[in-house]
Amino acid sequence: PVLVVDFGAQYAQLIARRVREAGVYSELVPHTASAAEIAAKNPIGIILSGGPSSVYEPGAPTLDPGVFDLNVPTLGICYGFQVMAQALGGVVANTGLREYGATDASIIRDESVLFDGQPAEQNVWMSHGDQVSEAPAGFDVLARTGATPVAAFGSDARRMYGVQWHPEVKHSDHGQRIIENFLHKAAGLAADWNSGNVIAEQVERIRAQVGSGRVLSALSGGVDSAVSTALVHKAVGDQLIAVFVDHGLLRKGEREQVEQDYVASTGVRLVTVDARHTFLEALAGVSDPEEKRKIIGREFIRAFERVQRELVDEAKADGEPIRFLVQGTLYPDVVESGGGAGTANIKSHHNVGGLPEDLQFELVEPLRTLFKDEVRAIGRELGLPEVIVGRQPFPGPGLGIRIVGEVTADRLEILRDADAIAREELTKAGLDAEIWQCPVVLLADVRSVGVQGDGRTYGHPIVLRPVSSEDAMTADWTRLPYDVLSRISNRITNEVREVNRVVLDVTSKPPGTIEWE
Ligand code: XMP
Repeated sequence: PVLVVDFGAQYAQLIARRVREAGVYSELVPHTASAAEIAAKNPIGIILSGGPSSVYEPGAPTLDPGVFDLNVPTLGICYGFQVMAQALGGVVANTGLREYGATDASIIRDESVLFDGQPAEQNVWMSHGDQVSEAPAGFDVLARTGATPVAAFGSDARRMYGVQWHPEVKHSDHGQRIIENFLHKAAGLAADWNSGNVIAEQVERIRAQVGSGRVLSALSGGVDSAVSTALVHKAVGDQLIAVFVDHGLLRKGEREQVEQDYVASTGVRLVTVDARHTFLEALAGVSDPEEKRKIIGREFIRAFERVQRELVDEAKADGEPIRFLVQGTLYPDVVESGGGAGTANIKSHHNVGGLPEDLQFELVEPLRTLFKDEVRAIGRELGLPEVIVGRQPFPGPGLGIRIVGEVTADRLEILRDADAIAREELTKAGLDAEIWQCPVVLLADVRSVGVQGDGRTYGHPIVLRPVSSEDAMTADWTRLPYDVLSRISNRITNEVREVNRVVLDVTSKPPGTIEWE
């Protein structure tokens, strides 16, 4: 792989994605990895990420200087550029000058392969305090800006380069081209990493891991479990049994989508557990959000355990329990939890609808090297329909946490109808890609007066909560066109009984969370 050394900035994951977009497989490593550990991963290229503002700050992250003796093509970015300058004998000056945001850079040596095919003047994204004042001996200064005399340096002979700006962000005009030049021209790497190869490789691995064993998979209707299940099915066919727990807190058409569209496109063997009644009974009389979440989590486990007991390993004469479980863990989850090796137990934050640690399974995690957009690409390649692959996030506890107040069958019906209308209109208006998700919330304990036809009504409000986000950690409310809002409002108040008012949530996150509960 190309290794992206993470100096603790949120940019490292972005760099890894850009490298993959250029068709080269990449992985993240912490900056604390020794040169020997890095060498053991057989890197074909190394990229040093950005990080905190100053290499002089106490506790500033460092890198084993032996990394620069591995004779691997290396690109330093921002903080990584300064770490590289220092390690190779250049000078980093603590000038107190800061350069932040869009900046004009002049390429001084356009014969360097790093800037091949690029204009001499370009708009780049900067974010730094210190600067490199002298390039290391044997390195050419390749670019400068008004405030920074050494904005890039490099040596084609040593295949080492550095840039002060952030080529991985879209605000740097030719950033992706710089990354591609480094990978393809300086390091000589072919663009041969793509969804097709990933599928082939994962299919091999899954077969090697499970052999003739049976495998269970909990389908939630979400993208990750849908794609990981389809991938495992491609590898081991009917050794896999997918389990879908219908907890009754699903949106309109969701169960049918899984039972029909998903099965039709994958041929997977699916067991649906109808647990609607059990969930409703357990939720009766409960309106506290945390209590609802706990009950839903607990009931989910119970339902799953029931099927686990019923479905035994048919390959074994004595019908042993099934040992393997598919989980849709993604690369960011792995990185965020310390990048550990495969685990035997399920971790609580890797939730398959919240399966607990004492459910013993060996995990099959075919997506643990992938980012979300890559998972979607693989889903498409596997032939999953767009309604499944393009789905927006939906919480495990479902509509149960979108009814403010007690959850009842009646209220679920109302919310399902309103939600279906909102989704239909947003899709019709072509807004699905623009919004991250749009929870539709029923304020079940609130009533307001309205008028419809000749009569007074006393109904419930529905809240629309359209949000834009990159990762759900922060979000802003989406400025939906008024005509779309108006259509949604008209249709909901006309078509959904007991709803006489539609309101728009205009709160960002923070302070509001995306969901209301
Ligand atoms: P909040 O409401 O915390 O939501 O801003 C952030 C994102 O997480 C989703 N969400 C959940 N997803 N189980 C899940 O699988 C949950 O219990 C859960 N709660 C919230 C939410 O839809 C949003 O995308």
